[in-house]
Amino acid sequence: MKNQEEKIVVLTAYDHPTARIVDEVGIDAILVGDSLSNVVLGYENTLSVKMKEMLHHTKSVARANPNSLLIGDMPFGSYQVGAKEAVKNATKFIQEGGAEAVKIEGGKESVSKVEKIIDAGIPVMGHLGLTPQKILQLGGYQPRGKTAKEAQKILKEAQMLEEAGAFSVVLESIPQELGKIITEKLEIPTIGIGAGPHCDGQVLVFHDLVGLTEFSPKFAKKYINLDSFIEKAVKEFRKEVKSKEFPNQEHSYNMEKEELNKLKSNLEENS
Ligand code: KIV
Repeated sequence: MKNQEEKIVVLTAYDHPTARIVDEVGIDAILVGDSLSNVVLGYENTLSVKMKEMLHHTKSVARANPNSLLIGDMPFGSYQVGAKEAVKNATKFIQEGGAEAVKIEGGKESVSKVEKIIDAGIPVMGHLGLTPQKILQLGGYQPRGKTAKEAQKILKEAQMLEEAGAFSVVLESIPQELGKIITEKLEIPTIGIGAGPHCDGQVLVFHDLVGLTEFSPKFAKKYINLDSFIEKAVKEFRKEVKSKEFPNQEHSYNMEKEELNKLKSNLEENS
């Protein structure tokens, strides 16, 4: 697709119904992102989500049998310890979760793990720029690579990941100029999120796109305000239950008259 200049569309999904819709639309790849942590599970950031939770949600997405490439995001602590642990956990994403590839954050420090996971036969997507699993060191979610020195480091690490065998690399929150340079220098596709229009593809967090997050970053475009639709429906339900409008005959079941009479006489006999 990169060679044919066809943009690659990637979206996160964390459950079966969303995966079904996303796949039906023809999204090229589904990422079960570790954004599951804050976006769905209500943790403060992405540091809290565990392998067990990631696998639980990856399985749910996989049950939709998507045609889209299914990528599992390796959570904080599942690969940093060492290559052996990284291969073990990446294998779980494939064997238990039903994913077809994994994503790993980080540059130089992640290269040895990327190589070993690829040696094990598992495709790896990299993730550079703003890497939210490093939030404690970074101190905030500001864009990265704004200085020539840091931009050069990100480019070098992207090249290292390509050399290590990564099939693609996510570029998060970097200046568009840097997104363009990295995209031109790499043979593998770049997937941008807040990295400008020149990347080979774009990824968004599903809940940002549909307007289900309390806070969304500058780079996230809200295509619909779903929370106001949901709020309206829930309000209506509450109102109708309180006013005894719901459930009406349309939403109720009936017993056969004969069975109802039998029940009533049985109850009378026993009373
Ligand atoms: O976890 C996630 O949703 C991600 C995307 C922001 C790429 O890593």
